[in-house]
Amino acid sequence: MIFSKIIGVGSYLPKKLLTNKDLEKSLDTTDEWITSRTGIKERHIASPEEQTSDLAFEAARNAINNASINTEEIDLIIVATTTPDKIFPSTACNVQTKLGIRNCPAFDIQAVCSGFIYGLSIADKFIKTNSAKNILVIGADSMSKITDYTDRSNAILWGDGAGAVVLSASKKQGILSTHIHADGQYEELLHVPKRNVGNKIQQTIEMQGSQVFKIAVNTLDKIVDEALIANQLQKEDIDWLVPHQANIRILEATAKKLEMSMDKVIVTIDRHGNTSAASIPLALDDGIQSGKIKSGHLLLMEAFGGGFTWGSALIRY
Ligand code: UT7
Repeated sequence: MIFSKIIGVGSYLPKKLLTNKDLEKSLDTTDEWITSRTGIKERHIASPEEQTSDLAFEAARNAINNASINTEEIDLIIVATTTPDKIFPSTACNVQTKLGIRNCPAFDIQAVCSGFIYGLSIADKFIKTNSAKNILVIGADSMSKITDYTDRSNAILWGDGAGAVVLSASKKQGILSTHIHADGQYEELLHVPKRNVGNKIQQTIEMQGSQVFKIAVNTLDKIVDEALIANQLQKEDIDWLVPHQANIRILEATAKKLEMSMDKVIVTIDRHGNTSAASIPLALDDGIQSGKIKSGHLLLMEAFGGGFTWGSALIRY
């Protein structure tokens, strides 16, 4: 039996920081409101020249170094992103060029904040069907490029970054299971419509935050049960929750459902904001770098986002 195992993790954050105090200068908001309602204190913002593939490339390079393999050994690149460099070619193809490799398949997937979980799920199947041996799964987003910085309900939330893993064929079990879902009927609650503003087409995020919040919390409850039942595991078997970072109050609600102390939850939202597809691999790398997540630990990753899409991955690291 072939399993897929994470053998390398890397991440990248753009240099520029945007703090709540910075946002107070241009918006009718306060550090106190943002901190108490979201848990966010600051977020990283890509420069105008930095594209999503640049962030993804840096994260991928770090993951490949961490995996101690040669770049040429990568035989599939999957990039989960909502903010591709261009409509085409795919950001994955741009990352492939930046890594200096040729011929392996490379494609993007679009599942907004659940994109990394979708990517892991696809990559796991490629490995288990012996179709690839070393897959780069990258979550990368430049959400600042689709954020309306005059809209206080959105401008405070989003950040930019990238995280990547090398997922490899292994005799040891790494990914225990993945579960992915979608329900398109809620499109209007969280989307990027095309609007005519003056003579220009504007495409920025629009969200009915409190409605999304309620559905997210209820759905994440079900995700947790689904992952545990599928693997006949108990809540207490999980060493770390590595969640999508949308709102500290959503993280707290999921931890409560798991009867888990917040000490067992990897939290980066205070420093990263919501980086969409990048948030889970960024949190994973943060948990490893800080010495919390160790080899052999059982990790539950979960996400909910636009689409709506949602999903989980249960992983023995
Ligand atoms: O990652 C994809 C999935 N996304 C999510 O899961 C996000 C889910 N939603 C959320 O995290 C929260 O709903 C938000 C953080 C977006 C908003 O928090 P909330 O507690 O749901 O606030 P709200 O939208 O119900 O607004 C409450 C009040 C409103 O004022 P009134 O109508 O009560 O007078 C807003 O106008 O807070 C006001 N408000 C703000 N005040 C100060 C909204 N944004 C701000 C702001 N600063 N930045």
